[in-house]
Amino acid sequence: MAIRAVAAAPLIALLVTAGQQAIPPAVRYEQHVFAGGAAPLAGTLENPFKGDRRSVADGEKLFSAFNCDGCHSLGATGGQGPSLADGRWRYGGADGAIFHSIYYGRPRGMPAFGGVLPPDAIWKLVTYLQGLEPAADLSTTSW
Ligand code: HEC
Repeated sequence: MAIRAVAAAPLIALLVTAGQQAIPPAVRYEQHVFAGGAAPLAGTLENPFKGDRRSVADGEKLFSAFNCDGCHSLGATGGQGPSLADGRWRYGGADGAIFHSIYYGRPRGMPAFGGVLPPDAIWKLVTYLQGLEPAADLSTTSW
């Protein structure tokens, strides 16, 4: 039990910042069609932890701790929720698009975690997901 508490300590430290950070802005989806060629006001969000190995490891722990793997399966290879490890994205694979998927949720069954996880923790999840290598023998069917 004591060992488990020690293992959870870094995750708890991650979560105490909840609610102290600003609401993320709207992000632009470059692949959307803009009526009249005019894009609505939106920005871009950049992953502050991109490529950081420690964030990948933290993100992997959060992926289990917050039951992402309950729906997306271990290693995010897909289950009830779609694979997040095949390089295909329903809602875009840009930093801000993945962040928004987790922060605001998505309509067909993806819960919004923005009220539970602080932005830093979400960015660590994004970093973990971006670091996953698609399998070499990827199925042509998307799950
Ligand atoms: C209750 C089941 C469930 C849980 C828990 C869950 N997801 Fe999802 N997730 C889904 C489903 C279903 C979708 C597809 C939603 C859609 O198509 O509208 C999805 C979509 C996503 C997407 C967008 C994928 C794409 O192709 O664009 C991301 C990113 C994602 N989830 C990450 C996470 C992370 C990170 C967690 C944990 C913090 C998590 N999910 C927890 C069910 C879940």
